[in-house]
Formats: sequence, C-alpha cells, structure tokens
Amino acid sequence: MFKFDYQDHYFKQAKKEGYKARSAFKLEEIQNKFHLFDKTTKTILDIGCAPGSRIQYAVGQMKKNDISEYKILGVDIQDVNLNLPGVKTYKADIQDIDRIQEILAENKIEKVDIIQSDMAPNTIGVKDVDAMRLFGLLEYVKPILKNLLKPEGKFVIKVFMGPGFEEFVKEMKDIFGGKHIKTLKPISCRKESKEIYVIKI
Ligand SMILES: C[S@@+](CC[C@H](N)C(=O)[O-])C[C@H]1O[C@@H](n2cnc3c(N)ncnc32)[C@H](O)[C@@H]1O
Repeated sequence: MFKFDYQDHYFKQAKKEGYKARSAFKLEEIQNKFHLFDKTTKTILDIGCAPGSRIQYAVGQMKKNDISEYKILGVDIQDVNLNLPGVKTYKADIQDIDRIQEILAENKIEKVDIIQSDMAPNTIGVKDVDAMRLFGLLEYVKPILKNLLKPEGKFVIKVFMGPGFEEFVKEMKDIFGGKHIKTLKPISCRKESKEIYVIKI
C-alpha cells in the first residue's frame, strides 16, 4: 500500500524552494490560516532560528506585503549562516534574557510585532521527557512574550503535547485573553510527532 512519506516530501519541497529546512512549511500553514504577517509587520524576533528557514519565509512575507523597512532578529545557540536584507542573527541562549534585551536595544527596538519560536531542546525520543524539557526552556520565553511583544503583537510558539501543555495554553490564555490564543497542528508535521503550535492572533 502507498504510504505518503512526509519527511521525504517536505525535505524535497524545501530543497526545491531554496529553504534551509522544512520548518518553513509549518509556518506557511499557520500563516495561511491566521495571517500573522501583514502590512503592519515591521519587527520579528525568531527564537531558535537556525538554520534559518522561518527567517527565509518571513522575508518572503515582507516582500509580499511590499514592506521594505523591516527588521528580523534571529537568536540561536548555533551559528546561522544567512545573508538576507533586514535580517540579523545572533549566537545567544534564550535563557540569557539580558542578552535578548540588549539585542533588541542594539537594533533600536523596544517591542516587536511578531515572536516566532521553533526552539527545541536536544530530544531523546522519550516524548514526555522531551515535552518537559521544552516547557522548561519556554519558561525563559514567557517573560519575553510578556515584556518584549507589542500589546497587539502576535506569536507562534512550537510546543510538544505532553506534560505541561495544558498549563502552558491556560497561562497564555490568562495573560493574553482566551479569544486570542489558538492551537494548531500543521498537516506538514509528521502524524506521530507531538509537535503543536500555540499561536497568539
Ligand atoms: C527545529 S530547530 C529550528 C529550525 C528553524 N526555526 C528553521 O526554520 O530553520 C530548533 C533550534 O532551537 C535551538 N535552540 C535550542 N535551545 C536553545 C536555546 N536555549 N536558545 C536558543 N536556541 C536554542 C537549536 O539550536 C535549534 O537550532
């Protein structure tokens, strides 16, 4: 029986479209549904940005909306090799909130329009442990969402279904209002993957 190979399909598609990773397609699905990037988007913070496919996608959205004055800042503990207009990437750990604030200040940005996080810890394949580790890292992202996102700003955060998921969604709803918080599992995620996105619209 024919079995659709998601990994292979999106890997090939990413290569064809010049994306550094297939993560861009998940963001594309989220954008098609929730329209996060629009004509008002000028500043984006990308957490866990390496190798850079979501930054590539975001640049495409800026072009599509005819926005020439924009800034996309990417942060990752790994090196990123991207040379795109309006984009700066930094080797930094998200757990160092002072450094993140410094990066925004260096770029004369107080708060951003969009925060996207595809950050993931080194997974060990034990789903519950991986989920707990990611929620541990997201503890450091919460103050960033609260303090460095514009009030009308939007975010898209990758999480794993597992211990901590319900609590995370509830906390986001308490902070940002239930009607603004959505969840989505893009079809470009593998079925067996526990990945799901918490989105503020
Ligand atoms: C799935 S990859 C991101 C793919 C990327 N969004 C793209 O579109 O190309 C997850 C990233 O999270 C990063 N990461 C893990 N822990 C981090 C931390 N504490 N601070 C910053 N980045 C981190 C990893 O280095 C890795 O590059």
